[in-house]
Amino acid sequence: MAKGKVLVVGGTGYIGRRLVEASLRQGHETFVLQRPEICFDIDKIQTLLALKKKGARVVEGSFSDHRSLVQAVKMADVVICPMSGLHFRTHNLLLQLKLVEAIKEAGNIKRFLPSEFGMDLARMKDHLKPGNVTVHEKMEVRNAIEDANIPFTYISANCLAGYFVGSLSQLGTLVPPKDNLTIYGDGNVKVVYVDDDDVATYTIKTIDDPRTLNKTLYIRPPENILSQRELIGIWEKLIGKELNKKSISGQELLDMKGDVDYVTQVIICRVYHIFIDGCLTNFKVAEDEEASKLYPEVNYKRMDEFLKIYIPN
Ligand SMILES: NC(=O)c1ccc[n+]([C@@H]2O[C@H](COP(=O)([O-])OP(=O)(O)OC[C@H]3O[C@@H](n4cnc5c(N)ncnc54)[C@H](OP(=O)(O)O)[C@@H]3O)[C@@H](O)[C@H]2O)c1
Repeated sequence: MAKGKVLVVGGTGYIGRRLVEASLRQGHETFVLQRPEICFDIDKIQTLLALKKKGARVVEGSFSDHRSLVQAVKMADVVICPMSGLHFRTHNLLLQLKLVEAIKEAGNIKRFLPSEFGMDLARMKDHLKPGNVTVHEKMEVRNAIEDANIPFTYISANCLAGYFVGSLSQLGTLVPPKDNLTIYGDGNVKVVYVDDDDVATYTIKTIDDPRTLNKTLYIRPPENILSQRELIGIWEKLIGKELNKKSISGQELLDMKGDVDYVTQVIICRVYHIFIDGCLTNFKVAEDEEASKLYPEVNYKRMDEFLKIYIPN
C-alpha cells in the first residue's frame, strides 16, 4: 500500500518537529507549513530549514488565508496539527477550527490528527477549573471534525517525558531537583510516561492503519507505567543518592491554587487529575487501541534510559 502523504501544521513546535522527522523516517512524503507570520523568528526558520534538509517539503500557508490552507491540505492525504496548547508557551487550540474548514473544503483528507497528545479527553468531563479550558477547546475541535465527517485519530500520549520525567513531575522545573521533592498523595498512583520522540513514532505508525481509523490511540508502553515514587527511585539509583521527600495531600495541592497565577493553577489541576485521581490509568484500554501492542516493532525508550541525560557531568 502506498504511504500517505503527510502535512504537518505546526511543524516547528515541540511535538511538531518530532512528527515531521518521524514521518520522514517512516518513508512518508512530508510537507510542513511555513506561515508568513513567523517572519523574523530565526529559530523557526532554522527549524524549517533543518527539516527541509532532512527531506521535508515546505509549503506556505496562513491561518488568515483560507485559500492557502486549502491548497496546502490538497497536497496531502493526512494532516497532523500539533497546535500549541500549553498555557506557559502559547495556547491557540481553537485556530484548528479554521483548518477543519479547509479540510472540509479540500475534501481529499483520509485522516486528520488534531492537537491532542495528552489525557483521554472523553473521560475528562469533570476536569477542574481553570485547567478544563484545554479540555473544552480540544473537545470543540473534536466536535467540528466529527460533524464534518472528517476521518480522524486522536492520540492520547499521556505524560511527555520532557515535561514530566526530567522534572520528576515537580511543579516549576523541567530538570530534576537537587535535594527536595514533593510527592503527590501517597505517590503510588500509576502514571504513564512516554518519551517525546516515541510519541511521534507511534503517531506516524497510526496514520495509514485502518485499525485506528476514527478511534483514540492510547500510548501506554507497559514498562513506562510507573508511580511517581517508582520514577523517583529510578533517578535516585542513577545518581546514587536519596532525596528528601515531602508529601502533600490532594486537598493541599488544590489549596495551592489560591496563591498562584493562572498558568500555575492550570498546571495544578492537571497534576491533581494525573497524580491524585489517576486519570491516565484508572480505565482499561483494549489491546487493539494501545500503541505498544499495535506496533510491537517499536523499541520504546524506558525511563531509566531517558533520565540518564540529566545526570550532572
Ligand atoms: N501530554 C503532555 O505531556 C504534553 C506536553 C506538551 C504538549 N502537549 C500537547 O501537545 C500539543 C502540542 O504542543 P506543543 O508544546 O508541541 O506546542 P508548541 O510547540 O507550543 O506550538 C506548536 C505550534 O503551534 C503553532 N502556533 C502557535 N501559535 C500559533 C498561532 N498564533 N498561529 C498559528 N500557529 C500557531 C506553531 O506552528 P508553526 O510551526 O507554524 O509556527 C507552533 O510551532 C498540544 O495539544 C499540547 O497540549 C502535551
